[in-house]
Amino acid sequence: MPTYRIAPSLLSADFARLGEEARAVIEAGADWIHFDVMDNHYVPNLSFGPMVCQALRKHAVRADGSKVPIDVHLMVQPVDALAQAFADAGADLISFHPEASLHVDRTLQLIRAAGCKAGLVYNPGASIDALEWVIDKVDHVLVMSVNPGFGGQSFIDAALRKIERLRRVIDASGRDIPLQVDGGIKVDNIRRVADAGADTFVAGSAIFGQKDYRQVIGAMRAELARA
Ligand code: DX5
Ligand code: ZN
Repeated sequence: MPTYRIAPSLLSADFARLGEEARAVIEAGADWIHFDVMDNHYVPNLSFGPMVCQALRKHAVRADGSKVPIDVHLMVQPVDALAQAFADAGADLISFHPEASLHVDRTLQLIRAAGCKAGLVYNPGASIDALEWVIDKVDHVLVMSVNPGFGGQSFIDAALRKIERLRRVIDASGRDIPLQVDGGIKVDNIRRVADAGADTFVAGSAIFGQKDYRQVIGAMRAELARA
């Protein structure tokens, strides 16, 4: 069985209590904290910036004091200056949409040089062809299963075929690259998405929309453990 990770998206959390919400999902079993950055330019919505990430850093810890990775998903254009700002603000992973950067290879290098894992994000309509040319510098790949900008949208089924194809590309690379999926993930479809080849699941409304975060994350894990 692959190592599966659940990454709750704070986009659906109570913004007035972000620190507490991060601690609550970590306590409930979150592996990564997914942090959606929107600039009202690349996507038609505005969320939070590097100062909020920095303020959260001290809350992204487990009871034993170990760090929980902050997984920054940049939906911004241009990318480079903000990628650097989030690295400085304590991000552990930073992913961006390749079409939002003029020089994808350079942006990947910049993120890694800043000490973070670098990821590429593919929109539902985006092609993955160019991944081949930079895969040696890619630490994680994120497939959007909704159009970026909002939580609570429905899963787009074509993402499953893209995940299958990316799984083959990643396996052929021989590198251990997490394959993440983001948008419309729920208890009742997570197994299907895992079967397509994803190992890391972002979920916003499915988790924060319920009272008992532990129950939802537990139900997701039970689906993933099913033979
Ligand atoms: C959308 C964001 C997602 C969003 C997912 O642009 O990238 O991370 O929070 O939300 P749900 O899980 O509600 O589809
Ligand atoms: Zn996201």
